[in-house]
Amino acid sequence: MDETPKNIVILTGAGISAESGIDTFRDAGGLWEQHRVEDVATPEGFAANPDLVQRFYDARRAAVQTVEPNGAHEALARLDRAWKGELLIVTQNVDDLHERAGAKRVLHMHGELLSALCARCETRHRWSAPLFDRPPCHGCGEQALRPDVVWFGEMPYAMDRIYAALRAADLFASIGTSGAVYPAAGFVRDARELGARTIELNLERSEGSHWFDEARHGPAGQLVPHWVDELLAGADQA
Ligand code: APR
Repeated sequence: MDETPKNIVILTGAGISAESGIDTFRDAGGLWEQHRVEDVATPEGFAANPDLVQRFYDARRAAVQTVEPNGAHEALARLDRAWKGELLIVTQNVDDLHERAGAKRVLHMHGELLSALCARCETRHRWSAPLFDRPPCHGCGEQALRPDVVWFGEMPYAMDRIYAALRAADLFASIGTSGAVYPAAGFVRDARELGARTIELNLERSEGSHWFDEARHGPAGQLVPHWVDELLAGADQA
């Protein structure tokens, strides 16, 4: 079978942004050691203590504006620019580092820190400022803006688009994710069943490593540029 892939789906997680200085969730000292998920990442937590939740995301929204994309983000942007086939970067991350590195074909399945969602009129607004002081929605004027981030118990965004990309993919890569959270953690199995080759690039074995045809372990900033070079070299020869 021709080993050169045509259509690629790349799933990224917090590990791809770790070398940019953004905390992951489940590594030692990660966000879920600093905060209880149910307090800051659920609709119930937001209803119970909106200020706590707004301040949690305000701090992350401010922090993401002080860091830069790393070599892994830049390599994926290079791949996105050069790849002639279909390519979709499905990110679980809510930072904008893929875009700031220049990637265009990016889908945020868990939302974005730099977007505010009005709980009243459901409009979205690019947002870089705090929300804890309850600014009015630019659409309806109500003080009903929340982080445009998918909380536990809420549906991730654009799942139909993700599954359409998985159906067309002949290569699925997972970068910097623990494989702890569904539906993202199940994409590798969907991709396999649909006939794609699968590769994991992660600092260490993830919960789903055994589902992958190939696994490379190390920092994304080292693994991803090499992997992109291999892909582009293979495509040039095809
Ligand atoms: N390079 C590559 N991988 C790394 C690096 C690095 N420099 N540093 C950490 N990792 C790996 C860790 O080994 C781990 O497997 O990244 C993964 C991070 O896992 P999590 O912290 O669980 O983050 P993620 O998989 O993105 O979490 C998924 O859970 O809480 C929800 O919505 C949140 O989107 C998030 C989802």
